[in-house]
Amino acid sequence: MKPSVVLYKSLPDDLRSKLDEHFDVTEIAGLTPETLSQYADAFRQAEGILGSGGKVDAEFLEKAPKLRAASTVSVGYDNFDVDALNARGVVLMHTPTVLTETVADTMMALVLSSARRVVEVAERVKQGEWQGSIGPDWFGIDVHHKKLGILGMGRIGLALAQRAHLGFSMPILYNARKHHEEAEARFAAQYCDLDTLLKESDFLCISLPLTEQTHHMIGREQLAKMKSSAVLINAGRGPVIDEQALIEALNDGTIFAAGLDVFEKEPLPVDSPLLKMANVVALPHIGSATHETRYGMAKDAVDNLIAALSGNIEKNCVNPQVVK
Ligand code: GLV
Repeated sequence: MKPSVVLYKSLPDDLRSKLDEHFDVTEIAGLTPETLSQYADAFRQAEGILGSGGKVDAEFLEKAPKLRAASTVSVGYDNFDVDALNARGVVLMHTPTVLTETVADTMMALVLSSARRVVEVAERVKQGEWQGSIGPDWFGIDVHHKKLGILGMGRIGLALAQRAHLGFSMPILYNARKHHEEAEARFAAQYCDLDTLLKESDFLCISLPLTEQTHHMIGREQLAKMKSSAVLINAGRGPVIDEQALIEALNDGTIFAAGLDVFEKEPLPVDSPLLKMANVVALPHIGSATHETRYGMAKDAVDNLIAALSGNIEKNCVNPQVVK
């Protein structure tokens, strides 16, 4: 008999067929309290789950007593309680490599569009405001040769450093838990403490996962240390920034602009003050959202689950220690 799996995200046909070859699949619309009770039996039988979004914690695990592997279609896994998974010996698989370049592209798009006010001025053109030659009220700020600070130097930070340094001649500063030799050797990235990063960066780009340590890492005190001409970019997880403090900093000119792909609450509430600010570019969490990359992530997630449920967790496993 094939192992039972609950699929809580729809997959391209070929990947769905591959999953069906290996598993007895129950597909549901998402991981919510409603689907959890509606498909209680499927969760009771499930040895694997695959999808993205939804909370997987100790309470969930009680409802899935046979679970051996969870496969998320994402690099981030802050919606999983890894301690609870570890306690139950459940492996967590994710997609850390396939989306790197695409997310770095998104970050560079936020850098460029915030600095050059691309979204704002394009909207003004559509509104018919372009009536003569443009003046300083349409101008932005330069990107090339400015200092780009990276908070969190992982794969995505490195890919961003490559774009910024080699493509835009930007000196790179970074702060991370440890030195990144490759970033230093290839892109002349300079390691510095957080205070220096805040004070020196013209563009401060956050590429951190959400953990207890990174929650609200950028708040009022940190924003106050930034240049008034600085642009803050976040494409990691929203709660790394204290959003209320950011709103105030953007309103009172503490910083120049923000380019945000992630928010404390997603979808961003339609009454968020951020949506009324001309100096904010707000994207709907599109970091990895291209056809090619989303397909690649789904493929990796399927392969990860097949591998994990046959005992192979060499690649893409968050907590391999639980089975060693
Ligand atoms: C996207 O935010 C991801 O974690 O893959």
